[in-house]
Amino acid sequence: MKILITEFMDIKCVEMLKLNFDVTVDHDLSTNIDELKKIINSFDALIVRNKTQVNKKVLEKAHNLKFVGRLGVGLDNIDTEYCKNHNIHVQPATGMNANSVAEYVINASLTLLKNIPLMHQETLMANWPRTSITSRELKGKTIGLLGFGLIAKKVSILAKVFDVKIIAYDPYLDPSVGNQFDTKLHDINDVFRMSDIISIHLPLNEDTRNLLNYSAFKKMLKHPVIINSSRGSIVNEEDLIRAYDEKLISGFALDVYNAEPVPKSFLDKIKNNTNCLLTPHVAGVTEESNIRVSDFIANAVKEFFNL
Ligand SMILES: NC(=O)c1ccc[n+]([C@@H]2O[C@H](COP(=O)([O-])OP(=O)(O)OC[C@H]3O[C@@H](n4cnc5c(N)ncnc54)[C@H](O)[C@@H]3O)[C@@H](O)[C@H]2O)c1
Repeated sequence: MKILITEFMDIKCVEMLKLNFDVTVDHDLSTNIDELKKIINSFDALIVRNKTQVNKKVLEKAHNLKFVGRLGVGLDNIDTEYCKNHNIHVQPATGMNANSVAEYVINASLTLLKNIPLMHQETLMANWPRTSITSRELKGKTIGLLGFGLIAKKVSILAKVFDVKIIAYDPYLDPSVGNQFDTKLHDINDVFRMSDIISIHLPLNEDTRNLLNYSAFKKMLKHPVIINSSRGSIVNEEDLIRAYDEKLISGFALDVYNAEPVPKSFLDKIKNNTNCLLTPHVAGVTEESNIRVSDFIANAVKEFFNL
């Protein structure tokens, strides 16, 4: 039984898989689709993160493929419809990195409310901004979560200790689900209107693409900080910068982008004195979550093949 791993997986888990499988690890294949198409036919299982595009063109060449393991949760780089129709099992590492992302959201909320990026920059420039830049507490603020799935629920659990009000928009859930987390489910416009912090926890699909555009930012009455750790294209990046320049929002944290790695053309639009936090799609990637995610997928693939 042959497994191909195209992105980083905890080394101990790779070694464990080698006891039962013929394992090939080749990270270059995550971007070299032509080469991936050439060799995929000989593999029974493929393990990826979010870089490898497991699209129809690749899957059409994968006549022996039975299992795709995703070292993470978003499945937008995998043609799940094709897999379903061709009996290929797709296994995300559900919940295994949720805590890492939730911690990132709490950190970003505090950092942006306290204007830490501005304080850091000005202090570094020897301007000693002790009174020129103000700071706010998280206590008493309203956090608005867009999507109330696994990660958003974790955020809501962690946020409670800060004495905040938590509201969420998720039309697919029965409102009683929110009650268990002291979180009131609302209409999206209410979340825009009432929140001091808006954090996005949605899948990327045709309903959510471009959801945070200029007209959405105009509805945000409390000049919130925006946190996106879900998928880049949910936020219109041009409109985000415009909303910040027009003071409709007071800061933003982006872990995910329209295009990744994020192009210089976008970075050039961000000034030194912007209250923002940019990270390279790592909210869910910590030393701890890497082990959990890898362990989960390694066990799932063994179980799938009854080994
Ligand atoms: N940055 C990272 O490192 C990282 C790590 C893990 C997950 N993620 C991303 O975070 C996002 C959330 O992950 P999760 O595990 O919480 O997902 P989840 O599936 O548990 O939750 C998503 C929620 O969104 C709701 N939803 C779906 N479509 C909606 C719509 N159109 N409007 C409103 N609500 C809608 C669903 O009902 C669900 O409750 C995903 O996009 C995932 O890819 C990013």
